[in-house]
Amino acid sequence: MTRNIGILGAMAQEIDEVKALLTDKTIVKIANREFVVGKIGGVRCVVAFSKWGKVAATITATLLIQEFAVTDLFFIGTAGALADGLKIGDIVIANRLVQHDLDARPIIQRFELPLLNRVYVNSDPELSDLAGRAVSNLINKGVEKMVGDEAVKDFNLAPSLHFGDIASGDQFINSNEKRQEILNLLPDVLCVEMEGAAVAQVCLEFGTPFTVIRTISDTADHNARIDFNKFIEEVANAYSRAIVSEIMRLI
Ligand code: ADE
Repeated sequence: MTRNIGILGAMAQEIDEVKALLTDKTIVKIANREFVVGKIGGVRCVVAFSKWGKVAATITATLLIQEFAVTDLFFIGTAGALADGLKIGDIVIANRLVQHDLDARPIIQRFELPLLNRVYVNSDPELSDLAGRAVSNLINKGVEKMVGDEAVKDFNLAPSLHFGDIASGDQFINSNEKRQEILNLLPDVLCVEMEGAAVAQVCLEFGTPFTVIRTISDTADHNARIDFNKFIEEVANAYSRAIVSEIMRLI
């Protein structure tokens, strides 16, 4: 089967960089969303801005699968670090996704996906491995090749790659209390964001292989807002572009 890769990104600017990689472009607009169909390195793909939060990302992921028949889905964006040892600029690839704000107790256990009998959704091991190889290649070449020397200095970048659990919820986490509350309940979670677990649920129901790749932009505490926009402009955009190009080269 010919592959048709779906690429979703949580930030408009980040995904604009990825859209710029496409050749033979066609733009399709549905439900206030722009889907750019084309090729990257000869591989067919469809790229879209997911929009923010679980509902918005669910709509976009569903359209990508139902209207564009993507065979694989990569979600790329930023996240706040929860686990010790994660640094700004590190990259996390999901093994499992969980919705930290889902709670239908006492009917079912906390975090359980209603009628799906599970708390976690696994990413596709082959896509996660592929994304991991792409990220490792880029780290080995030197982060300054991706973002330039100034950004490396500004953000003290020395990225490392991590695989683990990612939690999603409809909240930007920027307090020590909230980050600790999530960690106490879900101690294996590496980082927190606002879309991945929703996209994971869509992909589970449609049977579409997916993975989630997140760059750590903040520590999900009271410092979380500081320089977030600068980080997106100087680091996350360039990371996304480089990671997607390298994934397409390896496919
Ligand atoms: N995306 C990036 N940082 C985040 C945070 N602290 N909380 C939720 N989503 C994020």
